[in-house]
Amino acid sequence: MKAGDLKIPRHVAVIMDGNGRWAKKRLMPRTFGHKAGMDAMIAMARKAKAMGVEYLTVYALSTENFARPKEEIEGLFDLIRRYFTKNVKDLYAEGAAVRVIGDVSVLPDDVRKLIADGVAGSPADARFFVVLALNYGARAEIVRAANAAASSGDGVGEEEFGKLLYTADMPDPDLIIRTGGELRLSNFLLWQAAYAELYFTDVLFPDFDGRQFEKAIESFSRRNRRFGRV
Ligand code: IPE
Ligand code: IPE
Ligand code: MG
Repeated sequence: MKAGDLKIPRHVAVIMDGNGRWAKKRLMPRTFGHKAGMDAMIAMARKAKAMGVEYLTVYALSTENFARPKEEIEGLFDLIRRYFTKNVKDLYAEGAAVRVIGDVSVLPDDVRKLIADGVAGSPADARFFVVLALNYGARAEIVRAANAAASSGDGVGEEEFGKLLYTADMPDPDLIIRTGGELRLSNFLLWQAAYAELYFTDVLFPDFDGRQFEKAIESFSRRNRRFGRV
């Protein structure tokens, strides 16, 4: 596809699945796959920014993932510790800001502080946002918003309800990518995905490189989005 034919989605959201299987194929522990996945995520952020995407939301940890063995969850926290100290800061220098969606209150104190400092330290004038979904679950997000709406007394409309979600000031995702071969959303952005285009690939996330990302954007460019009209 020629560069001029590409339609660039404003908001791309990615279910980064397949790290564990990628490691298993290499006879390595799952955490090794998560490390490779983190590197792929940083590279994908650079690629998305270079292509003109404004928001890149990445599903890094679901509410349900917390039920995994302690060792794996601890390994993920260690990766956050490492990446929020160095790699994420490199992204700021390139003009990217970092945001977080999800319930971070249950994360270890030091991890929470690193993330909060990281978000606060993001460039204020950024035009590209990496949105990390951490301990994120769409149902929990919707219930939280519903409770906030109920306590406000009056009924709320769709637009106001959207403002009670973690993604309040963000556009809905135009494109949702899932790597790793499963054909499901796994509790990701259920409200916001109403009119998202979906792209599934068997490629395991650590192997999802710049060319793979381009292929997803090319597929998006060929879609005819009707939003219920003719
Ligand atoms: C996705 O990869 C990353 C996280 C859930 C943290 P998985 O860990 O689910 O990898 P597979 O699906 O077992 O291969
Ligand atoms: C979805 O992957 C969550 C993330 C990528 C963070 P899972 O591996 O948790 O999804 P299921 O269990 O296959 O649905
Ligand atoms: Mg998985």
